[in-house]
Amino acid sequence: MSKVMILDHPLIQHKLGVIRRKDVGTKDFRTIVSEIAGLMCYEATRDLKLTDVEIETPIARATVKELSGRKLAVIPILRAGLGMVDGVLTMIPAAKVGHIGLYRDPETLKPVEYYCKLPEDCGEREVFVVDPMLATGGSASAAITMLKEHGCRHIRVMNILAAPEGVKRLQEDHPDVDIYIAGLDDHLNDHGYIVPGLGDAGDRIFGTK
Ligand code: PRP
Ligand code: URA
Repeated sequence: MSKVMILDHPLIQHKLGVIRRKDVGTKDFRTIVSEIAGLMCYEATRDLKLTDVEIETPIARATVKELSGRKLAVIPILRAGLGMVDGVLTMIPAAKVGHIGLYRDPETLKPVEYYCKLPEDCGEREVFVVDPMLATGGSASAAITMLKEHGCRHIRVMNILAAPEGVKRLQEDHPDVDIYIAGLDDHLNDHGYIVPGLGDAGDRIFGTK
C-alpha cells in the first residue's frame, strides 16, 4: 500500500490557507502555488540518496555529500500542474520536465487525454507527477497509467489538496506510488469539487474565469 504524507510544515500550511481564500487574485494565487510546490518538493525529497565525495575547498581537501540516486523528472498534468513546475525546478534545477495533457470532462468527471511528451530516459528517473488537485483521482490515476506504459517505474505524486475519494482511488489503482499532499479535505461535492477546497485550480492559476 502506498504511503500518504501530509506535509505539515508551517510555511506550507500558511500559504495553503492564503490560496484557499476566494478573494486572492490570479497573480498571487499563481505565485503562492509555485512557492508551495517548492516547499513541498523540499520535504518530499528528504529520502534522496547521498554519497561521500572528495573535493578541494580553497583551504583543504574535504569529504562532502553529493546526490547519488536516480536523476529526477517532474511531470505536470496539464494544465493546472504547470503552476507547480517552476517551484520544483527552483529546488531541483537539473530535473527534466515531461508533460501529460488531461482534462476532466465536466459531465462524466472522467479524464480525457490530449497530450503526452516525456523525457526519453524517464524509465530510469525518479518521477514526480505534479497537479494541485486530487479530487476523484481519475486524472492522476490515468496519468500514472500513461507513465507506466512509457516505462516509468519510480513514481511519486505531489498534490496541494486532496479529497479522501482521490487518495483511496490512487492507492487502489497504484499501490506502488507514494502521495505527498499539503492538505486532506473533507469530501467532494456533486460536481466533483473538493470541499472546502480552493475552487478550480487551473482557472485560478491562469485567470480563465
Ligand atoms: C483539475 C485538476 C486535476 C483534476 C482533478 O484539472 O488540476 O487535473 O481536475 O480532478 P480528478 O481527481 O477528479 O481527476 P481540470 O480537469 O480542471 O483541467 P485543467 O487543469 O486544464 O483546468
Ligand atoms: N479540480 C479542481 O481544480 N478543483 C477541484 O476542487 C476539483 C478538481
